Amino acid sequence: MSVPIITIDGPSGSGKGTISHLLSEKLGWNLLDSGSIYRLCALACLKQDIDLDDESAALVIAQALDIRFEVTKSSVRTLLNDEDVTSTIREETVGMAASKIAAYPSVRSALLSCQKAFAKTPGLVADGRDMGTVVFPDAALKFFLTASAQTRADRRVKQLSEQGVAADYDEVLTAIKLRDFQDENRKSAPLKPADDAILVDSSHIGIDDVLAVMVQNIERVLTNK
Ligand code: DC
Repeated sequence: MSVPIITIDGPSGSGKGTISHLLSEKLGWNLLDSGSIYRLCALACLKQDIDLDDESAALVIAQALDIRFEVTKSSVRTLLNDEDVTSTIREETVGMAASKIAAYPSVRSALLSCQKAFAKTPGLVADGRDMGTVVFPDAALKFFLTASAQTRADRRVKQLSEQGVAADYDEVLTAIKLRDFQDENRKSAPLKPADDAILVDSSHIGIDDVLAVMVQNIERVLTNK
């Protein structure tokens, strides 16, 4: 029997990480945060000081990536070469580097099998940019979660201030737009909704409403209602 898969793709800051986490908990399914795999690969490149413009050097790193996810009830510890890098991979420099190496087709294909391996019973919620288009094209249900760049920048500034980090709104907005541009315009697996994805715009609705829309669709599809 094939494993049921729900994909949630969308741009950075759209809330797909939070939503995917909540959905996977609600369903009791596995969770794939594919962005963290690209972030781990980028961090490994940064640590080894390789030139991010050099696709073949990035590929060597991707092929030898030693990563582990330790999942507990309330959190996921992310390890690179046995070092806990859970918070380091969330830094903006790592995000930008991830977006850069993610444009290389050879790196993407080197990281494919590691992502597919997450598809295990009882099911998988997969979060990323190309989950519905490339990695799991036969997923039972696909969502594309978006929000305006301004809303995403607002949320990011608020999130950083809650962590005690002062951030400039215009700088955050510029970084978000740059990352969108890179992710949407690369040749290999660009960020775009799958033809059969359900579009959800969270610009004017909160997490609870987004979750409610998704749960409605999941119940309809999984129970064939
Ligand atoms: O979702 P995130 O911000 O953690 O992802 C970091 C970068 O990784 C993102 O800018 C592009 C890349 N990425 C990708 O190309 N494909 C994915 N499925 C997930 C992330």
